[in-house]
Amino acid sequence: MRSISLFFRSVTKSLILVSFLSSVAVSSASAQDAAAGAAIFKQKCTACHGIEKAVVGPALKGIDTKYDEAWLIKWIKNAPAFIASGDAQAVKASEYSPAMMSAFPELSDDDIKNIVAYVKVGDPKPAADPNAAQGGGSGSGADEGVSNFMLFGLLAVIIIAFLVVLVLNKVIQTLERVMLQKKGIEVEEEPVAKDRLAGLKKLTKNKKFILFIVLVCIVFLGSAGWKGMWETGVHTGYQPVQPIKFSHQLHAGINKIDCQYCHSGAFSSKNASIPSLNVCMNCHNYVTASEKYDGKTSPEIMKIYQALDYNEDTKQYGTNTKPVEWIRIHNLPDLAYFNHSQHVSVAGIECQKCHGPIQTMEEVYQYAPLTMKWCINCHRETEVNHKDNPYYDKLIAAHDKLKKGEKVTAAVLGGLECSKCHY
Ligand code: HEC
Ligand code: HEC
Ligand code: HEC
Ligand code: HEC
Ligand code: HEC
Ligand code: HEC
Repeated sequence: MRSISLFFRSVTKSLILVSFLSSVAVSSASAQDAAAGAAIFKQKCTACHGIEKAVVGPALKGIDTKYDEAWLIKWIKNAPAFIASGDAQAVKASEYSPAMMSAFPELSDDDIKNIVAYVKVGDPKPAADPNAAQGGGSGSGADEGVSNFMLFGLLAVIIIAFLVVLVLNKVIQTLERVMLQKKGIEVEEEPVAKDRLAGLKKLTKNKKFILFIVLVCIVFLGSAGWKGMWETGVHTGYQPVQPIKFSHQLHAGINKIDCQYCHSGAFSSKNASIPSLNVCMNCHNYVTASEKYDGKTSPEIMKIYQALDYNEDTKQYGTNTKPVEWIRIHNLPDLAYFNHSQHVSVAGIECQKCHGPIQTMEEVYQYAPLTMKWCINCHRETEVNHKDNPYYDKLIAAHDKLKKGEKVTAAVLGGLECSKCHY
């Protein structure tokens, strides 16, 4: 009887210790600050910023890694003065929009640290995955939710496995003792650890326990490092809210407007480019979708008119125009050169191969990872399409000339094409 109660006592003790240690490891210390930050953020910042969504100012996700704390404090307290001081980062940030961020001199350094903590963590996600918001660190895409879920799942499995080993170990010891006692051999009772500290000391000497802790650390650090390495600069799924609710599904899908109608650049030059509003006006000077809005022009289409200073009644354009600032989704770093016409016109690759099912997207998101690995893999696999291809006809002709000993200039190889030298 005694040995069984002893066994239960020690199991409970190690259970409490293990759950205490893992809860310390998992819970983020900034929960308190984030809650305080959320209140300030909602009161003062949401008019112009979302965490994930750009409003007047940019989406704030990732500011904690983009800027250091001292910079953020200066910026948030008084951005106009900070920009005027000529700080290079501040000047760069101010280029985001002609609108100006207001000054918040009333906020203390701690208030600002709390806001940053909140931006980092975001609002706790409802029920589905309570751990994601806590351990999430920077931001919370769907991917990250999944991998956090897996991480905590793994952790839970390790803890359970450890407990099972512990319990089995004890059971075996107890059984052995009972058997020996049955055989009439006296066994010394294990001395009961008098104080808790002694138990803890014993635990720190337990090789299995140390191994367990080391394993947990490796899993944590390893997965964080791995994720960090792969996710730098990768924005798959990036889907900002655009200033006008323009739907590719409606235009390219349902109305079957050709990509070329709006992105003709993709066939002839490096950049596909976003169409100017004049292209929209080819249709929207009469397509007003007013049936949906009790005979009034759609508020989204009104935005086109406002940007062009177009008067619906007189059909006159004014001079007070302001460009619509579409938020760029696909963005390679400057160090990589990508040319649309080489891929679309020369290689004959469909837009969808790289941009996904655009014609079904209500809002465009980044489909491909745009990593170097992605480019290289496709180059390894894709055969060049050289038959009846003017690009190759030209190269083959040049090749023939060279073989015959004739003169070939750079111009023959396309050296006069604007996009060979200009971005
Ligand atoms: C009146 C609108 C407005 C309000 C309110 C506002 N901001 Fe801004 N914020 C902006 C604009 C606009 C920018 C972009 C910079 C520019 O164009 O001058 C910006 C930029 C920023 C940036 C730099 C982001 C980047 O990626 O470069 C941070 C950080 C920021 N704001 C934080 C805050 C915080 C925190 C609050 C609340 C205390 C706040 N803002 C309130 C308009 C606002
Ligand atoms: C009626 C004009 C129009 C047509 C047709 C159209 N687009 Fe667009 N496209 C736009 C506008 C405007 C934007 C910018 C707003 C946005 O991202 O939704 C855009 C954005 C995009 C982007 C994201 C650009 C970025 O910022 O990285 C891609 C990719 C794209 N279009 C591909 C296509 C493809 C592929 C087709 C054909 C299936 C197509 N578009 C048809 C007008 C058009
Ligand atoms: C070739 C004709 C054509 C062009 C070019 C075109 N659209 Fe459209 N657009 C349409 C049609 C058709 C509809 C559907 C109208 C309806 O639902 O009654 C539409 C609907 C819309 C709507 C939805 C209106 C609502 O509230 O339901 C928006 C917003 C819009 N277009 C924006 C744009 C923008 C921005 C551009 C330029 C980049 C553009 N369109 C270019 C034909 C065009
Ligand atoms: C081989 C892959 C590939 C194909 C095919 C492709 N794109 Fe792109 N697209 C990209 C990449 C990569 C970027 C980012 C370019 C950058 O940041 O310099 C991009 C960017 C864009 C943009 C953003 C603005 C710009 O000019 O950079 C638009 C719009 C776009 N593509 C439309 C199209 C359309 C329309 C087609 C089909 C006619 C198409 N793309 C075919 C890879 C592709
Ligand atoms: C869907 C497949 C695919 C993807 C993805 C792709 N490419 Fe290509 N790329 C091709 C093909 C096919 C060619 C050959 C075209 C030709 O015949 O000249 C090519 C050619 C090129 C060339 C010209 C090479 C030369 O010698 O003229 C460059 C530069 C290039 N790609 C850059 C990129 C970059 C940068 C990326 C990633 C952002 C990328 N490509 C992604 C298929 C792809
Ligand atoms: C062989 C390379 C090459 C080709 C091909 C080329 N350019 Fe240029 N271009 C340059 C260089 C280098 C400069 C900058 C030096 C200068 O301003 O003269 C330049 C400057 C320019 C400028 C002046 C830019 C400014 O801000 O001053 C324009 C406009 C221009 N090019 C347009 C074109 C057009 C259009 C084509 C195609 C018909 C073209 N270029 C073809 C190399 C080239």
